[in-house]
Amino acid sequence: MEPFITPYLSLYNEDCITGAQRCIPDESVDLIITDPPYGIEGGQLHRHYHRNEGFVVDGYVEIDRSEYLDFSHQWIKEAERILRPGGSAYIVSGYTNLYAILDALRHTSLTEINHIIWKYNFGVYTKTKFVSSHYHILFYTKPGDDRTFHQECRFGTGEKDEWGGSLNYQDREDVWIINREYKPGQVKNKNELPTELLVKMIQYASSEGDLVADLFLGGCSTARVAVGLCRRAIGFEMSEATFAARARNVSEVIPGSLLADCRIPCITKPNNQGKSWTKEERDRLQMRFATLRSQGKKIGEAEKILMEEFGRGRFAIKNAREQSEKSNQQSLYDYDT
Ligand SMILES: C[S@@+](CC[C@H](N)C(=O)[O-])C[C@H]1O[C@@H](n2cnc3c(N)ncnc32)[C@H](O)[C@@H]1O
Repeated sequence: MEPFITPYLSLYNEDCITGAQRCIPDESVDLIITDPPYGIEGGQLHRHYHRNEGFVVDGYVEIDRSEYLDFSHQWIKEAERILRPGGSAYIVSGYTNLYAILDALRHTSLTEINHIIWKYNFGVYTKTKFVSSHYHILFYTKPGDDRTFHQECRFGTGEKDEWGGSLNYQDREDVWIINREYKPGQVKNKNELPTELLVKMIQYASSEGDLVADLFLGGCSTARVAVGLCRRAIGFEMSEATFAARARNVSEVIPGSLLADCRIPCITKPNNQGKSWTKEERDRLQMRFATLRSQGKKIGEAEKILMEEFGRGRFAIKNAREQSEKSNQQSLYDYDT
């Protein structure tokens, strides 16, 4: 089929290895998100999942297990070539052929940032063993330049849940519990990645206007969400049936249309962050700390109060306190000797 090309999109109905060689220049992609075929006879997946395949688009191209290692080496080499230095890649994989993906990655310059576990619902249910309900997401980067990671894109570091736990910490733990979308009666691709998962990956590791590549488009979910978040998308799908059924929908997505649904983080930066300390401030800090301690406050509680009062982060307060204590001890020593 003809490709879909718009100012935000370049979607091709062809093999990703030769396609990338033809269409994507070296080091031109900011982020790769991809979910390769699993090499487990994907055409049979519905037998495990017990689901109605009536609305699933036919035509998933599977890779034979005997070719999986070699195939993984080939496409991951291409991924390394197209990724810019400092760019990141999320590769979604089941357990069966994970070793092949890891082996291929180890033969590139790409380095690991995180191994994320994505826990989903509708796991593979069997009577005689545990339910299989997670995928691996390998989060890698190409060294050589600054990596994009928007630490507070979803939750400010000061935002707490009702028990005082940090929402930012919880969102950045490496186990992600995100449900698959249940779309009864809607056309879908086998193993379509949920929007929530893709939004999270894209928000943290790319900026608006960046180019996001998916070498195995399937239902084009990566491209749909990337454009919805005002990124540009490029990708390949080998199956004509899948491409014909799904690519056009993506070309109709309004760039940035998903941004309005994204949570706005509450980011409060300490007012005096980055400013150097005056002698008067240091002395005042020492006195206030001593007073708070004499009132029975624990060290952590006292530091928290001082963070507010001095408009500084915890490390700045700690360092300034420790430095003042050291210089006081030094003056006492100088006085004695
Ligand atoms: C696991 S699915 C991707 C699902 C996709 N992430 C989604 O959310 O819909 C893998 C896709 O890769 C396609 N595929 C297999 N071999 C390919 C190749 N050499 N080049 C491009 N696409 C390929 C399959 O047809 C299948 O649609």
